[in-house]
Amino acid sequence: MSTAPAVPPSPADSDLVRAARGLPVQRTPVWFMRQAGRSLPEYRALRAGTAMLEACQDPDLVTEITLQPVRRHGVDAAILFSDIVLPLVVAGVDIEIKPGVGPVVANPVRTVADVDALPDLEPDRLDFLATAVRRLVAELGPTPLIGFAGAPFTLATYLIEGGPSKEHARTKAFMYAEPEAWSRLLTRLAVSAATFLRVQIDSGASAVQLFDSWAGVLSAVDYGTRVLPHSRAVFDGLGDRDVPRVHFGVGTGELLALIGDAGADVVGVDWRVPLDEAARRVGPQRSLQGNLDPAVLLADRATVDREVRRVVEQGRAARGHVFNLGHGVLPETDPGVLTHVVELVHELSAR
Ligand code: CP3
Repeated sequence: MSTAPAVPPSPADSDLVRAARGLPVQRTPVWFMRQAGRSLPEYRALRAGTAMLEACQDPDLVTEITLQPVRRHGVDAAILFSDIVLPLVVAGVDIEIKPGVGPVVANPVRTVADVDALPDLEPDRLDFLATAVRRLVAELGPTPLIGFAGAPFTLATYLIEGGPSKEHARTKAFMYAEPEAWSRLLTRLAVSAATFLRVQIDSGASAVQLFDSWAGVLSAVDYGTRVLPHSRAVFDGLGDRDVPRVHFGVGTGELLALIGDAGADVVGVDWRVPLDEAARRVGPQRSLQGNLDPAVLLADRATVDREVRRVVEQGRAARGHVFNLGHGVLPETDPGVLTHVVELVHELSAR
């Protein structure tokens, strides 16, 4: 009698990748946006004394910080420790991430000349990224690594506003007043996002997520005509690299179908739209990721369990479901609750 040779489990066969492709899974895969970060004491200890954007360019720190939540919580995927502004920083744009504030741009982009003066991202400056990803993939074994980049619109908001903002009014005014320069700006941001993603995929990332966090401030018409073509260009820039593509923004209930049309296999959903309704809006040809309200994790255990159960059940309406929060982990979250959510999602969805 012969037994089949043991095939080592591969990230390409993981529940995360399978759910993203709409294939049957053993358990609903779960990871958390911002799973690496200030909710973890081991992160705060390791980061102490190193600026955020420096840490992102140090392969040792990137590897260790990325692995921390995988070890602690048993999540089904790692997400690279980096930031959406990193490609701009590597290209030479003067940006700092101020703790508790976010990215701050020294010389915001306010004129057509500012757009044309932006430096291009040279791929040969991304060796640190390739090194970190290769090391991570070796350490992670069967657990997939998700690579990511910021979408052109969300990056443009930081460049134009000069920092975080609520209304993104300057950004939208520029978009309306200077349509040609707007298009040139987003075209360039799409090229650099695609470069950043290609390096991660070619170094072994098993999936990619394009964050268009602030796209929800746009109407569907403006999003569809002035933004979506540039997000699509990012995905098109990946060529035939065959890894699942996740696309996410906050407050995008009115845009969900368009976000999918930009070229996603998986549409990320925040907590405002239940997943069964999101599945209806997105259609049967894409999977969903989400969408527990991060604030729920600050409530009592019974509330957490009830809401997790609801998300898992509503997620069954989707072609495939990757459990996540509707946005990033809040820094004050008890990490023990995150570990509990991973266990509960697995238990509720085990076949
Ligand atoms: O675990 C992960 O999710 C991976 C790491 C990750 C970071 N930034 C690390 C980070 C990811 C995926 C991002 C993406 C990112 N960065 C987005 C898109 C996701 C989203 O939240 O919508 C955006 C909009 C940014 C820009 C940015 N960088 C913001 C708004 C902030 C928060 C500022 C603050 O201090 O509250 C950052 C800083 C940042 N990026 C931190 C981390 C861990 C905190 C910095 C620190 O620990 O000192």
